[in-house]
Amino acid sequence: MKKYDFLVIGSGISGLSFAIRAAKYGTVAVVTKREAAMTNTSWAQGGIACVQSEEDSFDQHVADTLDAGAGLCPEPVVRKIVSDGPAAIQELVDWGVEFDLKKAADGDLEPALGREGGHTQRRVLHHKDTTGREIEDKLLEEARETEGIDLLEHHFAIDLITTTKLGLDSESRCVGIYALNEATGDVLTLRSDRVLLCTGGAGRVYLYTTNPMVASGDGVAMAWRAGCEVANMEFVQFHPTCLYHHELKSFLITEAMRGEGAELIDKDGRHFMKEYDPRGSLAPRDIVARAIDREIKKTGGPCVFLDITHKPAEFIKDRFPNIYETCLSVDIDITKQPIPVVPAAHYQCGGVKTDVNGMTSLEGLWAVGEVACTGLHGANRLASNSLLEGVVVSKLALANCLETFPASHSSEAIDLPEWESGDVSDVDELVVIYHNWDEIRRLMWDYVSIVRTSKRLQRAATRLQNLRNEVQEFYWNFKITSELLELRNLVDVASLVVESATGRKESRGLHYTLDYPEKDDAWQHDTVLKK
Ligand code: SIN
Repeated sequence: MKKYDFLVIGSGISGLSFAIRAAKYGTVAVVTKREAAMTNTSWAQGGIACVQSEEDSFDQHVADTLDAGAGLCPEPVVRKIVSDGPAAIQELVDWGVEFDLKKAADGDLEPALGREGGHTQRRVLHHKDTTGREIEDKLLEEARETEGIDLLEHHFAIDLITTTKLGLDSESRCVGIYALNEATGDVLTLRSDRVLLCTGGAGRVYLYTTNPMVASGDGVAMAWRAGCEVANMEFVQFHPTCLYHHELKSFLITEAMRGEGAELIDKDGRHFMKEYDPRGSLAPRDIVARAIDREIKKTGGPCVFLDITHKPAEFIKDRFPNIYETCLSVDIDITKQPIPVVPAAHYQCGGVKTDVNGMTSLEGLWAVGEVACTGLHGANRLASNSLLEGVVVSKLALANCLETFPASHSSEAIDLPEWESGDVSDVDELVVIYHNWDEIRRLMWDYVSIVRTSKRLQRAATRLQNLRNEVQEFYWNFKITSELLELRNLVDVASLVVESATGRKESRGLHYTLDYPEKDDAWQHDTVLKK
């Protein structure tokens, strides 16, 4: 058993910014299941929303966030995160993160701010079209140089250890985790009184997603199994513009491109978005994704197109170098031809229920970033608010950890038992695991995606129940592997999405069902599930 003052699971913006700050107060382990840079943060293109200009204000950023959130964002939470933004951005800059600058009227340099759907002002700080990669690289560099941080790559957190599981307390408390060392197959027992979940989202629950392979909902699944409250899982955000190409399946075309004037068109060049919303191609994501879904269903075509060819080629190459190069690698020259795009699962607005300090309903456990539901995103996240949430709430969470769990508390001697694998054998047929992965992702796409019905949800629930039983049997009878652990998490999270969606008898934000197509004031509250 290894002890740490802070145990962080996940190595994106939330986990790393927490770890770097926490190392001043004690020992930190960052447990991450692949290479540390393999995170949703790394793949973020657009940027990080934060009030930075004279024309903008906290009030306007708050109002835009509340508007997108469709009645479910608690205003004090939004206000706190928005107004703590500039200080957190300054910390990122101090850690070496470079945002694009431009010359102001007086000749001085100022942040070059982008605009995205639902924002009434330019307020998105960016680093070309690879903002996430810039943040991830600089935070990793800083974390690797910070004394007191153990970066445990290729370690897969299996489950949280709680006092009730140990039979110690009636009031449950998180006291550590079990983690699989992927290289050796050994299971480590890691002890801490301050465990932080920063595992990101669950885009991989769907067949088509803009997320990397790691996004299998591990944090939500673990927290739910440990008895935490989980909220608003029905609100899955579909990004309207994922590249449609058989070789590059999860490549995002940033919303910032629409912010710079790109227009959605159909195969005949028709600008269809104004028929759905006066804001056209820059309407909030739920509206744009639903409009594209409808156009695709109506025309029977496989995709729609995003056109930026009216902008100068030099501007496009300079502002979107990654997208330009990547599309060119599959023979699409975005300076000359429209980009084929489809919607894909992008962001989980719900998650482990927390307050604005990341505190969960389980003592000793905090959750920050996409894994958590502070309420900031309500029923629909405003673009680029998530990186902001990660870096702001990780700071609040550290203050809260130090306040609620002072050093004296952690001196309690709780010895955790070693992991017992029992009488298990190697998985004999990996094909079953891969088949179940595919089945979950396809049924979620077909039955639980942009437009839902009660009947489709019911179908999904029945199939998931069978899959869950099968996966559980596997879990008990075979030696654990990362594939099996991800599958186990995926089926739990998919079931939570379906249960939450089934419970909401209205359409609001990202949850749209043909059976209840209107918003209903009676449902203006969170969906909260607990095991
Ligand atoms: C994008 O660049 O379009 C994604 C930004 C976000 O999801 O916040």
